[in-house]
Amino acid sequence: MSNDTLKTIKSRRAIRSFGDEQIKDSDLETLLEAARYAPSAMNRQSWHFTVIQNKELLKEMNSVGKKDAIHTAPDFMKEKMKSDTFSFWHGAPTVIIVSGADDNRFTCADCALACQNILLAAESLGINTCWINSGLMLFEGPSGQSFKERLSIPAGYTPLYSVAIGYIKGDKPSAPERKTDVVTYFK
Ligand SMILES: Cc1cc2nc3c(=O)[nH]c(=O)nc-3n(C[C@H](O)[C@H](O)[C@H](O)COP(=O)(O)O)c2cc1C
Repeated sequence: MSNDTLKTIKSRRAIRSFGDEQIKDSDLETLLEAARYAPSAMNRQSWHFTVIQNKELLKEMNSVGKKDAIHTAPDFMKEKMKSDTFSFWHGAPTVIIVSGADDNRFTCADCALACQNILLAAESLGINTCWINSGLMLFEGPSGQSFKERLSIPAGYTPLYSVAIGYIKGDKPSAPERKTDVVTYFK
């Protein structure tokens, strides 16, 4: 890899064990600015970001989410829903929820690009992340609407993705192997 951007893309990993240390507010703002500079279809910027750094709130979202998803979770996650120690956001001190406008058919693309900008900007700052979708089962369960209201997610927006953010506890995992037979060339 030949430059800092390419190195950042390759060195970013999904981190699933975080320490308690909080990221600096200035770094948080940098991550949010990076998110807002993502491309978006017709420049509609159809995203809304919810930053959660309140430990008690994160704990509550985790425990209610697990309880509510115990029947609806995919089979491979069902055991985790019963575990007291499992945390959707892997104990990260910061979680950003990215919600997308319901009235835009490109909202998933817009919000996914914003998420990826957060991951890459964080990596460039030495901050660790994990893209988390499982935790959003919370919003599909019986408590979903009340959490959307408590978190001030704007009407007409749906939580689509989330990012766990903090500093790794333990060693960085190596990159899962990438498929290489995924390209067709016509030259
Ligand atoms: C849409 C999406 C949803 C994901 N949801 C979760 C999740 O709920 N929990 C988790 O630990 N990792 C989640 N991940 C992280 C992936 O498992 C991870 O990116 C993948 O295994 C490749 O590893 P790498 O990011 O280190 O390259 C998600 C990633 C994406 C893009």
